[in-house]
Amino acid sequence: MKSLFSAAQPPSCEGRLSHIAFIMDGNGRWAQRRHLPRKAGHARGAETFRNLLDWLEPTGIRYATVYAFSTENWRRPPDEVEALMQLLSRYIDTFGKTAVERNVSLRFIGNTELLPVDLQEKMRALEAQTESGTFVLQVAFSYGGRAEIVHAVNDLIASGAGIVTEGDISAHLFTAGIPDPDLVVRTGGEYRTSNFLLWQSAYAEYAFTDTLWPDLTRRELYAILRDFLHRRRRFGGVTDASDNASDGK
Ligand code: IPE
Ligand code: IPE
Ligand code: MG
Repeated sequence: MKSLFSAAQPPSCEGRLSHIAFIMDGNGRWAQRRHLPRKAGHARGAETFRNLLDWLEPTGIRYATVYAFSTENWRRPPDEVEALMQLLSRYIDTFGKTAVERNVSLRFIGNTELLPVDLQEKMRALEAQTESGTFVLQVAFSYGGRAEIVHAVNDLIASGAGIVTEGDISAHLFTAGIPDPDLVVRTGGEYRTSNFLLWQSAYAEYAFTDTLWPDLTRRELYAILRDFLHRRRRFGGVTDASDNASDGK
């Protein structure tokens, strides 16, 4: 059927959506509903994360950021924190080759100095190995938006800055050089940012879905992208900055 077929077609986002970000929430509930340990939900969520590249590649989107572990997630029970560290470590071990083949540049953003030293080393090695990739995938791990802004301000103070501009702050964030997100997608049915990309999302569009992260499908992602493409982004002005529509609304 044509309608079903077209729902699975990747929408063309070129020129409209350059950076998409995901708050990957709902892994724990996915597991609890199946009477499984929370870490089984994280393992399943990692599968969705692996699929993202395939899903995004044909859309023309060039930058993606995923929120994988927040500064506040350090408060979780040690075995859950440990499971998340192990998942990241395994991901790095297996992803290096694929990233180079697929032209993906990996970047890790967050207070990574809090992570085990061997994990930090693996992260830096993967970043260096994939530096020239043209699709940028940022993994926010041990990341908090407030901590990031404080880090940027302290960097500026240390460099002797007096009065600072918005551009100075942007240039000292972990995301320096990456365009601000156009769309932030949160799965898991919560309507909050949970400290994600606070500065960068000033004019991001948001999409919320009740779907738990492990259950997100290509089809639903493309429906979210299509909805985004119909939105009018005014950035405080009176006309749509995305397609120059000027119907006076
Ligand atoms: C998101 O899933 C992943 C992390 C925060 C690490 P959750 O673990 O928060 O899942 P829920 O919200 O408890 O279902
Ligand atoms: C946000 O999810 C962080 C990540 C998805 C990594 P949380 O589950 O930690 O957020 P809260 O606690 O519900 O706000
Ligand atoms: Mg959660």
